[in-house]
Amino acid sequence: MKNEIKIFSPATVANVACGFDVMGFCLDAVGDEMIVKKSAQKGIRITKIEGYDLPLEAEKNVAGVAALALLEDAKPEFGFDIEIYKNIKPGSGIGSSSASASGSVYAINELLGRPYNKTQLSYFAMKGEALASGCEHADNIAPGIFGGFTLVKSIDPLEILEIPTPTELYATIVHPQIEIKTSEARAILPKDIPLQKAITQWANLGSLVHGLHTNDYELISKSLHDVVIEPYRSTLIPYFQEVKALAQKHGALGSGISGSGPSIFILSKGEDIANKVAHAAEALYSKTNLDFNIHVSKINTQGIKTLL
Ligand code: HSE
Repeated sequence: MKNEIKIFSPATVANVACGFDVMGFCLDAVGDEMIVKKSAQKGIRITKIEGYDLPLEAEKNVAGVAALALLEDAKPEFGFDIEIYKNIKPGSGIGSSSASASGSVYAINELLGRPYNKTQLSYFAMKGEALASGCEHADNIAPGIFGGFTLVKSIDPLEILEIPTPTELYATIVHPQIEIKTSEARAILPKDIPLQKAITQWANLGSLVHGLHTNDYELISKSLHDVVIEPYRSTLIPYFQEVKALAQKHGALGSGISGSGPSIFILSKGEDIANKVAHAAEALYSKTNLDFNIHVSKINTQGIKTLL
């Protein structure tokens, strides 16, 4: 069995417009790397973090908390040292904390000889993710661990459904570089929603899942609407409506807020359209004084990858 592993833990898009807290998909072009080593000393140590300034104390770090949750169950006679090379900016809306939490439990599971299945790993990762967002949800964790599109049917007990990925789907991620904390983006949401909006939302989510199962790009396009969350959160994101409009103009299937923002995701049929949307968004933000970055990514159907 290996004593050391290097992994790629990808960024993810949660909510996917109509699936607040339940739907998600996995990206390929952006992600963190982590090196995890077995150590004779029990417990978890975060020995290095590069890229962003995050806590090294295991109990205060999402990767550490997730790893400790796994260790509490597995009770190995040894411990683990974790190095985190972060490329996903915290607070960007593409699952930064989730990538750290999922990556650490995936890597430890590999070093233990895979005693846990993907749902069990998602459960441990969710404990870490809760530290960052203030509540337990698995809509970023599930696509990172399973790959592709996922639907979190329930978090207690944790039940995750894998949804097929049509092969021509591409994502464009537009990230205006302001920070939005998930906890704050959740705090502005209403506690109750009108029945008519709920009906529209669950009809869209059902038809999105059906469209993904049947490779029906037109139905996917018609389903990518969020009448519940977007009206509140979109006000926090500079040029959100302009990005939506340009995505539509260039023939994208649809768009929405990635997770709790500020990143915006656009789904397109084919890489050409995804690239056109990226260029148009670049032209738009170049005229502002905002820093931004933009990625075009295939949907990653594998999820977290072992590099070494
Ligand atoms: N579903 C979560 C939210 C994802 O939108 O608040 C962000 O962690």
